[in-house]
Amino acid sequence: MMGKLCFLSIFTAMILTSQAQYLLPITKHEPTQQFYTTLDIGTTVKSPLNLLLDLGTNLTWLNCHQLQSLTSLHTIACDSDSCKVIPGNGCNENSCLYQQPNPLGSENITGHVVQDAASFSTTDGGNFLSQVSLRIFTFSCAYNLQDVSPPVDGVLSLSPGSSSFTKQVTSDFNVIPKLALCLPSYGTGRFYVAGVYYIIPPFDNSTNQIPKTLTPMRTDSGDYLISVQSIYVDGTPLTLNPNLLLGGVGAKLSTVVPYTVLHTDIYNALAQSFTLKAEAMGISKVASVAPFKDCFDAQNVAGKDMTGPNVPKIEFGLPGKTGEVTWGFYGANTMVKVSEMVMCLAFYDGGMNPNDWIVIGTHQLQEYLLEFDLSTSTFAFSDSLLLHSTTCSSISPS
Ligand SMILES: *[C@@H]1O[C@H](CO)[C@@H](O)[C@H](O)[C@H]1NC(C)=O
Ligand SMILES: *[C@@H]1O[C@H](CO)[C@@H](O)[C@H](O)[C@H]1NC(C)=O
Ligand SMILES: *[C@@H]1O[C@H](CO)[C@@H](O)[C@H](O)[C@H]1NC(C)=O
Repeated sequence: MMGKLCFLSIFTAMILTSQAQYLLPITKHEPTQQFYTTLDIGTTVKSPLNLLLDLGTNLTWLNCHQLQSLTSLHTIACDSDSCKVIPGNGCNENSCLYQQPNPLGSENITGHVVQDAASFSTTDGGNFLSQVSLRIFTFSCAYNLQDVSPPVDGVLSLSPGSSSFTKQVTSDFNVIPKLALCLPSYGTGRFYVAGVYYIIPPFDNSTNQIPKTLTPMRTDSGDYLISVQSIYVDGTPLTLNPNLLLGGVGAKLSTVVPYTVLHTDIYNALAQSFTLKAEAMGISKVASVAPFKDCFDAQNVAGKDMTGPNVPKIEFGLPGKTGEVTWGFYGANTMVKVSEMVMCLAFYDGGMNPNDWIVIGTHQLQEYLLEFDLSTSTFAFSDSLLLHSTTCSSISPS
């Protein structure tokens, strides 16, 4: 009996310590500020496919109208296990259906749940190595979508739920349930599944690894949340109604929202403090340019260095292992240039009754290495890579 248990646990440990890791590219589509990855699905005529990365989507979906022939694809029956594990599934003539919100538009999308192979690349942390296939990849095939336009063909699900692309890959390949994103501000960034090493030059595999800061992560209703317990502008904490940040506000992380959205009270406190500090640096306020509310004279802003315009630093205070840790944002992530003359604070006022008090968007997330580890419920973030004179799109020499 003992022997058997022992054998089983060693066996389990061996399976779980597989260090296979996978790398997919991330492209930023400038006109829409959408971030998509590219992978092969089945033997479609239009392959590879460009799929928007969405941390909040439960089941990957494609615009099947654009796919002329999906010869290898098959629908699944309503009473199959693959259908039953999808929360909120539906049924039509024994074909499994799924309805979910569309991050590209206002209406829900409904699709047939189907299966086909998905192919992408292994990595050593820096390079694309060899192609591997997830032989049975479950996703939803939607038709006649108006909100989907080239180059994007659909949405890749990165949610914490068991039907997400990430979860399907990590459970099928028996690797650690973890994903990492390095969203590029230009060029090609990196999407890692089960990442072990992140090699973004000058960082390497050994003595010079990317420094990461850890904070607890919650998953709730298919979203990833961290807890923001304070906000600083150049080191000074915002004075907020204590109820606002008491015990930490759940901040949702989003790869589809372009600019961080804050509850009005948080937005106003941030904008007020930022304006005071900016004015003290000789940066004057100008008329706002929609959709932004707080804009500045770009000619007063000191020359750019790697981290962008020289403006007050914004930091989020988060719980760490031994006290508060901070996530710092510099000009490249806090300002947006709307014209030659005007630069605005790159945050949105989300009103008094938003669904989430803070939604951290892509303008703030780009050029950081971000790791979502579901095995330990931990979120890890690097410094701005720009501080280290590198970017998410620097490809390592092979
Ligand atoms: C959209 O789908 C969700 C399930 O994901 C459902 O709860 C909601 O009622 C749907 N909304 C509409 C307008 O059909
Ligand atoms: C990183 O280190 C591991 C273990 O030392 C090794 O197996 C792997 O090949 C290395 N990767 C690169 C790109 O050097
Ligand atoms: C994703 O699934 C969870 C349940 O697992 C549900 O609470 C959530 O509403 C779903 N999200 C969307 C966007 O459909």
